[in-house]
Amino acid sequence: MHELVLTRKDKASRYEELLPQIRSLIAGETDLTANLANVSAALHEAFDFLWVGFYLVDDARNELVLGPFQGPVACTRIGYGKGVCGTAWKEGRSVVVEDVQAFPGHIACSQKSRSEIVVPVSDDGGHVLGVLDIDSVFLSAFDEVDRHYLEMLCRIICESAK
Ligand code: SME
Repeated sequence: MHELVLTRKDKASRYEELLPQIRSLIAGETDLTANLANVSAALHEAFDFLWVGFYLVDDARNELVLGPFQGPVACTRIGYGKGVCGTAWKEGRSVVVEDVQAFPGHIACSQKSRSEIVVPVSDDGGHVLGVLDIDSVFLSAFDEVDRHYLEMLCRIICESAK
């Protein structure tokens, strides 16, 4: 049973416990799809998130395309610079959205989503390969603690793909 609201300290402890588990889970497997699928499942199990998943850069179409995820069905393609995901891709930085209704151009895949965080997955050269997107039914569910640990997680994912 998950608590509805985690304190910043509880959240940090949960990430501290989870990240080494994820590191072991994906160690020794270089297939990106397999690793992204397990990372989505591990995050979805550990937290009370509505949706956890990845969008991957489709260079040929200059769009993001839906990758492995856990949660309700989602839109399959997002243009460069569009929505929260396309913005994080274009700007090459994490985007924390406290209230999705206040984010211009937010793409609503689920009416239940109230807040969101998107973290780019980048290679060593800073080239964005895709984004990790997480949605919550609660307003202001994400903060600097999430950003810190999820950026660390995205670096672990890239290491595993080498
Ligand atoms: N809200 C995202 C779209 C993806 S869904 O949340 C899964 C966005 O604005 O880019």
